[in-house]
Amino acid sequence: MKDTRKDIAVDETELLRQLDYMQGIRKINDAFETETGKKKKFFSLAMGCQMNAHDSEKLEGMLDKMGYERTDEETDADFIIYNTCCVRENAEQKVYGKLGWLKHYKKDKPDTVIALCGCMMQQDSVIKTLRQKYRHVDIVFGTYNLYKLPELMNTRMESGDTIYDIWQEQEEIVEDLPSIRHFPYKAAVNIMFGCNNFCTYCIVPYVRGRERSREAEDIIAEVKKLAADGVKEIMLLGQNVNSYGKNLSEPVSFAKLLRMVNDVEGIERIRFMTSHPKDLSDELIEAMKDCPKVCKSLHLPVQAGSSEILRRMNRNYTKESYLETVGKIKEAMPDITLSTDIIVGFPGETEEDFQETLDVIRKVGYTTAYTFIYSKRTGTPAATMDNQVDEDLIKDRFDRMLNVLNPMIHELNEKMVGKIVHVLVEEPSKSNKDVLTGRADNYALVHFEGSKDLIGQIVPVRIIENKTFYFIAERVNGD
Ligand code: SAH
Ligand code: SF4
Ligand code: F3S
Repeated sequence: MKDTRKDIAVDETELLRQLDYMQGIRKINDAFETETGKKKKFFSLAMGCQMNAHDSEKLEGMLDKMGYERTDEETDADFIIYNTCCVRENAEQKVYGKLGWLKHYKKDKPDTVIALCGCMMQQDSVIKTLRQKYRHVDIVFGTYNLYKLPELMNTRMESGDTIYDIWQEQEEIVEDLPSIRHFPYKAAVNIMFGCNNFCTYCIVPYVRGRERSREAEDIIAEVKKLAADGVKEIMLLGQNVNSYGKNLSEPVSFAKLLRMVNDVEGIERIRFMTSHPKDLSDELIEAMKDCPKVCKSLHLPVQAGSSEILRRMNRNYTKESYLETVGKIKEAMPDITLSTDIIVGFPGETEEDFQETLDVIRKVGYTTAYTFIYSKRTGTPAATMDNQVDEDLIKDRFDRMLNVLNPMIHELNEKMVGKIVHVLVEEPSKSNKDVLTGRADNYALVHFEGSKDLIGQIVPVRIIENKTFYFIAERVNGD
């Protein structure tokens, strides 16, 4: 058996090698700028979860170092990169749709370089399809070798060949990649990669590999650097943060890590995701309660309410144990808000099973829920299970679920009206530039009128209206 507790080497020489390639490409791009007066531009699209979005921040950081400038107009770009997702079928269809469009586009602009990376690229069937039908793609790589982008671009420039570089695993973690944050005041920090849980519906363990935790000291060093750079809110990322640190030579629990991050000066808020209900310890509840910077909101995906479905999903908890965990959390932190992920239509789901899901929704009272229709993923155990549920039946259940969820969310949110909350102001609202948006400590999305100077600050506001999925607020003075 493989020893999962060995040290995960952090490959510094690899980073230096990539920095060399970055410099080399920068020189070429600088020369292009001097000659033409134009800067090379990149368009980058993250198509998946928060981890995928954070990976794109690193890709963008590397492109910036190579002398490219970001553009939000795809048709303006010299380099297009899609960071793909394959968690559900529609995520993959979106990529093929884009590639169909790019095929025509590239006829007019043949010099555009197209790169694909991320989870979807880790599947052999996808690579086969790309090689056969989408020959206009130039560079393809996966989740394990993201840091190799500069080298792959260099090889492409030198050879003109199509580059496929997909790895099946990678133990080493390459630290300190350049990165461009999407928000100056909040940042995501990976604490671990991969997943060992093998929920039977889920493709993630096959495309992201086994669990690998970063050393606590590397994480803290990164958080300190971010704090010095003006970051106030940290989001700690992992597929199952509760099993953080188990594979380190000197194991560190997630609760301990949370306390360490809480001690970093300058950081004012800490969030984390995702917390697997099976591993949520009393130690973590204590740490959340004790640490003032840890936001009192928790994402605790239930997936389904029926214990039988949960068993077949390989979730390793029951409806009862989940509700018990929720009870403990609420007892320790009465004002906490809870969010969840729910899948409807897992193979074999009966009406009775579905009613159990509704029962959990009613008992827990989530203020946010990400709801999904089960999507069959080839290679996962659930894909070959008997009794796949009829599509129309799933859609009907899905609608009925929203009819329970949404009024409940509205009702729970009513309690917020009149309260004063502290909002980290993120950006002007998309629809009205005089309105600012941000999140309260408990993750409530808040809109209020105010000057753009407030962006990046944590300000007190009074909630005046509940709009179900967000709130309207007004400014108040002082703390
Ligand atoms: N590691 C996280 C989530 C990863 S994927 C966790 O365990 O909660 C995000 C969400 O996508 C999952 O929580 C699940 O609700 C959903 N999901 C994953 N595979 C799916 C599938 N095959 N069909 C529908 N939804 C799926
Ligand atoms: Fe997928 Fe389950 Fe791992 Fe989450 S814990 S990534 S749902 S296998
Ligand atoms: Fe995330 Fe999608 Fe990969 S949800 S881990 S980008 S399959």
